[in-house]
Amino acid sequence: MAQIGTDVQKAKEYLEQGEVVGMPTETVYGLAGNALNPDAVLKIFKVKNRPSFDPLIVHTDSIDKAETFVKTIPEPARRLAERFWPGPLTVLFPKESIIPDLVSSGLDTVAIRIPQHPLALKLLASLDFPLAAPSANPFGYISPTTARHVAEQLGDQIPYVLDGGSSQVGIESTIIGFTEGGPIVYRLGGMSLEKLEAIVGKVSVRSHSTSNPKAPGMLSSHYAPRKPLLLKTPAEVLASHKPERVGVLAFEEITRLIPVEQQQILSISGDISEAAKNLFAAMRALDALNVDVIVAELLPEMGLGRAINDRLRRAAFKG
Ligand code: TXA
Ligand code: MG
Repeated sequence: MAQIGTDVQKAKEYLEQGEVVGMPTETVYGLAGNALNPDAVLKIFKVKNRPSFDPLIVHTDSIDKAETFVKTIPEPARRLAERFWPGPLTVLFPKESIIPDLVSSGLDTVAIRIPQHPLALKLLASLDFPLAAPSANPFGYISPTTARHVAEQLGDQIPYVLDGGSSQVGIESTIIGFTEGGPIVYRLGGMSLEKLEAIVGKVSVRSHSTSNPKAPGMLSSHYAPRKPLLLKTPAEVLASHKPERVGVLAFEEITRLIPVEQQQILSISGDISEAAKNLFAAMRALDALNVDVIVAELLPEMGLGRAINDRLRRAAFKG
């Protein structure tokens, strides 16, 4: 069973030995390994049970280091990096050959981000290699936002989880790339479109799935609890289920139709950032209840509400 602790030195030693460890970030916890070591990268795919066609994000702690992993930094990408790194934003760049093809699943681009978390930054600064890190959940399941989430699901396969508390943003980073046609967001996430557009102008969003997605975080069914999640109101679902068999994921209000202990309220004050921070833990709590279905309410389609709704739609999709 993985040990959970706050010892950066210990995490560093495991990583230098080619092991993979749980790493806190402000978005979600990552399953980190030496991005320059193909054996460590293979281990990440294996522990996560992740298909090898789904590329990994490379984490580093400075733009100078990032420059050594990429062929060029397009000018708008540099502006974003300077403005928003460290932070919940991943940028795609033309890949330099020092990054193994396994990391990018053979694509000629590499995804890079600098996470905004003191322990992650301390760890990255102490290493002479970057860290490949997908979210530390079994492929397709809800991402972890605490060290305990990681240990519960992957703990028998990894030696250590670095504990940095609850992830403050709570949903994965936004992924943006630059093409001749302009900036494209491939995954909605912890950095809102509004903030990106203030720096680089209009961006297009291409995060909805096809059968052969460029970014499988875009697979329609993803981030999913094991119980069926329905985008319905409690009243609608009560036509076919008893109240004691229904869990509720609500934005701000409790319903009187369902027992209160079966409800997760994301933000009593209606704060979308707080809702994002609580989202995945709430989904896990509902998944652990003795109910047959979970009903969820969509949030306003603005700011991080878009990214939350994207997660809820994918969690609800059974295709
Ligand atoms: O917030 C986050 O980004 C977290 C933390 C740990 O940093 N990481 C994360 O990684 O969410 P993961 O592996 O769960 O999701 C990474 C997404 C995948 O959907 C993958 O397809 C996409 O990034 N991706 C990675 N490299 C790519 C590339 N070169 N082109 C397009 N998509 C890429
Ligand atoms: Mg993931």
